[in-house]
Amino acid sequence: MKVLVVGSGGREHALAWKLLQSPKVQQVTCVPGNGGTASMKRCQNLALGVNDFEGIARFALVNGISLVVVGPEVPLAAGITDFLNGQGLTVFGPTRAGAQIEASKAWAKALMLEARIPTARAAVFNEEKAAISYARSEGVPIVVKADGLAAGKGVTVALALDEAEAAITAAFGGHFGEAGKLVVIEECLRGQEASVLALTDGVTIRPLLPAQDHKRIGEGDTGPNTGGMGAYAPTPIVTPELMQRIQAEILEPAIATLQKHRIDYRGVLYAGLMITPQGDPKVIEFNCRFGDPETQAVLPLLETPLEDLLLACAQQRLADMPPLTWKPGAAACVVIAAGGYPGSFKKGSPITGIDNAEAQGALVFHAGTQLKQQNLVTDGGRVLGVTAIGETFDEAIAQAYAAVHCIHFDDMYYRRDIGYQVKTARSNAS
Ligand code: AMP
Ligand code: GLY
Repeated sequence: MKVLVVGSGGREHALAWKLLQSPKVQQVTCVPGNGGTASMKRCQNLALGVNDFEGIARFALVNGISLVVVGPEVPLAAGITDFLNGQGLTVFGPTRAGAQIEASKAWAKALMLEARIPTARAAVFNEEKAAISYARSEGVPIVVKADGLAAGKGVTVALALDEAEAAITAAFGGHFGEAGKLVVIEECLRGQEASVLALTDGVTIRPLLPAQDHKRIGEGDTGPNTGGMGAYAPTPIVTPELMQRIQAEILEPAIATLQKHRIDYRGVLYAGLMITPQGDPKVIEFNCRFGDPETQAVLPLLETPLEDLLLACAQQRLADMPPLTWKPGAAACVVIAAGGYPGSFKKGSPITGIDNAEAQGALVFHAGTQLKQQNLVTDGGRVLGVTAIGETFDEAIAQAYAAVHCIHFDDMYYRRDIGYQVKTARSNAS
């Protein structure tokens, strides 16, 4: 079969790589892809934008694509699945209606309330004055969120009231464009974050191994939010018992309530969770797609052929699939970013040492890279995701860092503490 993957990040490189592990997958086309997907055998890039639905449909129809896998949220929220389904194509990724679970935080909150899914207490506002007076009455810490998609920049965890007010003013002042027309203000949850990505065909749900991301740029989770600076899986924070509760209290009610609204949700339902100090899972947010960099840590451990699973979701026959099987051990992914990210950074720096990292057994997933006359150069904020599998969590982390140390480009930056929460929890326990 031939598969088309929409997107250009580390997540899409990992998806393409995993799909190509299967002898059944003849070719993967990435739209637009990156330097890593351009370099893989049986993989090609197609220079179209992710929102060029007509161009993607034309290519897929002419080239006999059996499955389109959509990586990012923006085309999903804009209705790529509805459009491609309308052309007779098979798509993994929810329709526009389903993608609202990520594209509107107010909509997602209403769904959670209706489904009785545990989440932070919240209120929604369409004007500044009322929002500010609510924030004042609630006090700090408090979380201010622009309703719509804001590329991970729409959330402020305010520790001081003037910070909360500034965030509210910025959102209503058009700082996030349309995304800030509504503002959600919610209770600040405490605890440990975890990401549970579940495959679903709209009826059956199959969670993947639980992962933990590292959203902040700085070590010890300090500094501004990023797309994600590293991940590992499975995270011991989500025990098998907790996973069962997440399935029963969060994933199943979410899908049942989507069904009630006649939303046939086929794709990834990603629950961003806070595990409270009492050990209860609460939803911070839902996403309508694979996480990045969680995918780069989770997929290398998956043994079940990915194309079978994604096709089964798209064709609503996930219940017929045998249980997912996983490699034993753990995987860790360390993201290498361009210095300055998530602020401004330079592009075009030559990258060296990837071969050495791969020779050690690491998987180097590309994000912001480009092949220029056969030379690999940086082309984005998050540049590479270096993944290693180990028999134990410690081994995976150590091997990922050993591989990172092989790689070089000007001003490269990475967090040196990926996985620190596990080490902290362990030393607290002993
Ligand atoms: P989001 O853009 O929704 O992923 O939020 C970004 C980050 O903000 C999350 O990963 C959390 O670290 C933090 N956050 C969002 N909502 C809350 C909340 N209600 N309580 C505490 N932290 C939150
Ligand atoms: N890693 C966070 C996200 O994909 O949203």
